[in-house]
Amino acid sequence: MLPGRVDIGIPGMNEILHGGLPRGLTVLLSGGPGTGKSIFAYQFLYRGIRQGEPGVLLEFEDYPARVRMNMSMFGWDVKPYEDNRAFAIIDCFTGGVGEPDRKEKYTVKDPNEIPSIVDALKTAIKDVKAKRVAIDSISTLYLIKPEMFRQTIVLIKRLLVSLGCTSLLIWQKGVTDKNLPTTYVEHIADGVIKLDLEDIGEGYRRILTIPKMMGTRHSMQKHIFEITEKGIVVQP
Ligand SMILES: Nc1ncnc2c1ncn2[C@@H]1O[C@H](COP(=O)(O)OP(=O)(O)OP(=O)(O)O)[C@@H](O)[C@H]1O
Ligand SMILES: [Mg+2]
Repeated sequence: MLPGRVDIGIPGMNEILHGGLPRGLTVLLSGGPGTGKSIFAYQFLYRGIRQGEPGVLLEFEDYPARVRMNMSMFGWDVKPYEDNRAFAIIDCFTGGVGEPDRKEKYTVKDPNEIPSIVDALKTAIKDVKAKRVAIDSISTLYLIKPEMFRQTIVLIKRLLVSLGCTSLLIWQKGVTDKNLPTTYVEHIADGVIKLDLEDIGEGYRRILTIPKMMGTRHSMQKHIFEITEKGIVVQP
């Protein structure tokens, strides 16, 4: 690990980035369904909290309880860290209806309201003194208000950078047929990590590429990776 770098926590990744992820970057993590984006983000956040770098997950795609369960299947039990205010999941999924409303500390009541999402993010980051943030996914932010999307992403990037966070913004490829929104988000982001499934005849293999990353040399190769019971492992 070089000074000023963040240990991503995924075997192989620090090598591919020639010494770790530069601290403070806002990185787009893009890929189709089932390519491993959420797992990548969980692994990155969990490594952070284990190393004394608190984290925040802004969750649009699932119940926080199910996210905790999915994480624990890889051995990443976040509950104690939530209790110690070293980790927070912001529920942007349920709208605070039913049980999550009583159980979740951070819920956005109206997940269609961009300002309340941004407020919740800011509050949670300050509460846990987060150093790492993941947003799963910004595609939802696009679907909520397409015409506001660029502004929203710029606003969020400014917030994350000003609070000193190193962040992963997940983009679900294939969410729109027109590829338009990703193209400009790829420019706004400081870096882009792409996860793909490559057709190799008898099946698929998982491929990771890094088309862009500020502040570091990085591999330009295709890297084969696997999802194991301990999470993602990349071949450097
Ligand atoms: N315990 C496990 N061991 C091995 N592979 C697993 C395990 N759990 C999940 N997977 C693989 O990970 C995939 C899901 O990964 P993940 O949820 O990170 O995808 P995603 O890119 O976030 O997808 P989406 O865009 O649909 O949210 C599954 O389709 C499966 O192939
Ligand atoms: Mg996902």
